Amino acid sequence: MPEMPADGTARTWWRDGVLYQIYPRSFMDTNADGVGDLPGITQRLDHLQWLGVDGIWLDPITVSPNADWGYDVADYCDVDPPLGTLADAEELIDQAARRGIRVILDLVPNHTSDQHPWFLDSRSSRDARYRDWYVWRDPKPDGSPPNNWVNAFDPSKPAWTFDDHTGQYFMNHFLPSQPDLNWWNPEVRDEFDRILQFWFDRGVAGFRIDVVHMLVKDRDLRDNPPAQPDDHWFVRLRGQQQIYNACQPGTHEVLRRWRAICEKYDPPRILIGETHVHEYELLASFYGNDDELNLAFNFLLIHAPFQAEPLRAIVEGTEAAMPEHSWPVYTLGNHDNTRFPTRWAGGDPAKARCALVLLMGLRGTPFLYYGDEIGMPDTPIPADRILDPVGIIFNGHYGRDPERTPMQWTSAAGGGFAPTGVEPWLPYGDAASYNVEAQRDDPTSFLSLTRDLIALRDDVDALRSGSYTTIATDDNVWAWHRGNGVVVACNLSDTATSVRGVTGTIRMSSDPDRAHEVVAGSLTLAPWEAVITAL
Ligand code: GLC
Ligand code: CA
Repeated sequence: MPEMPADGTARTWWRDGVLYQIYPRSFMDTNADGVGDLPGITQRLDHLQWLGVDGIWLDPITVSPNADWGYDVADYCDVDPPLGTLADAEELIDQAARRGIRVILDLVPNHTSDQHPWFLDSRSSRDARYRDWYVWRDPKPDGSPPNNWVNAFDPSKPAWTFDDHTGQYFMNHFLPSQPDLNWWNPEVRDEFDRILQFWFDRGVAGFRIDVVHMLVKDRDLRDNPPAQPDDHWFVRLRGQQQIYNACQPGTHEVLRRWRAICEKYDPPRILIGETHVHEYELLASFYGNDDELNLAFNFLLIHAPFQAEPLRAIVEGTEAAMPEHSWPVYTLGNHDNTRFPTRWAGGDPAKARCALVLLMGLRGTPFLYYGDEIGMPDTPIPADRILDPVGIIFNGHYGRDPERTPMQWTSAAGGGFAPTGVEPWLPYGDAASYNVEAQRDDPTSFLSLTRDLIALRDDVDALRSGSYTTIATDDNVWAWHRGNGVVVACNLSDTATSVRGVTGTIRMSSDPDRAHEVVAGSLTLAPWEAVITAL
């Protein structure tokens, strides 16, 4: 795969670029079955090149019975037939490389599908060849599960399922059809080394690693302690601290082993983690000594309210905890969280635009989720169209389908995703109000804002690599310096305000009408306006 620095400077694509997450089933359907596919992504690469992104992460494309839409893998080294073939994946990687775009895949090592041949064998008898590839334990004397660990999808349930056939429990932190692998078994480790290399040899630029913090569990399966009143709300929701089923030293061992494989390639492949932890030190620990993850997703930001004080505290806390060599990564959403124009902006375009400028002004790699570039909100899902297993568990009160609906390319019926008349796997959203075609040539559109911000990061060195320093402001404003003369200022309130001590020229404002005015000492901000200035 060719290495393509943008302009001859020594840039590193995953640190200096902007990355983009694609949910393959919902990007573009080329064979009119209502499901997005790999040829569809290839067909839309020109859009991504025009937008200016440097890499794409695809949610799982591997073979899956789709109990959890790809996160239940039945074959790690082939493509799920509805999405295409291995040849389609190779064509996508090749066509992306021609446009300077790297392809990152999703690796799901914590668990497999219960239809994976390893598990079919494992559950067949207590002395099956693959028995020990999964975590099997006897019930407690009273018949209850081996320990108190709870299920990640539904904390009211144990992380265990009893198997009548062999009279033992197997561990599943997600669906019972997603049994956890036993990462203490050296054969499992060897097998995943091969899986990594299989894809790296085909030009894949790296992996996003699913629930990486939970990979290796306590060998003795000790009980977790209960959540405490001052724990993060997410931990309290779960009811217990993940002391023994997350962030174990063994996981760091595996990451060092994988990073060593990555570094053998030219250019080196990268590892991005779904590090779903709620303490800065734990997040920082996944970077190791520059020998583990390259990027560790920051869920504190996704889980925060759209308010200056908590957001500032999260970025300051992250900055303080990050080791010298490490590099942050931020996103405003993904396939597991409601879209930010809904979650943070409540449908208000000014707030959504403000949020995007904020993201692109942070020190760290920004990840966009498909549709973010047009300000696409969540799509309401009728009860009879719920497909997410979590949506099914919670009867539609909570679920992840709303953020997984088809990309909106045009205002035509089908939104440019599939031919008119084809029923998409999840319902279409409001393509009339939000679509690529209508926004493309409008310089004031959300899409233009996204493209302009990506170009600005490319143009202004300090916006990519400058350090982060908070500027003292009024309570509802969050402003910071980015190294040499760049200031990012966000007014997260309904009241106009100003930030003192700013000098330079406005290079970008979330307000499309605000021109490149000169700022000399005091920067005025309209309600929900975010501005980037440079000297
Ligand atoms: C991760 C994925 C999510 C999936 C879960 C189980 O959190 O992002 O979509 O359901 O892992 O694999
Ligand atoms: Ca299709």
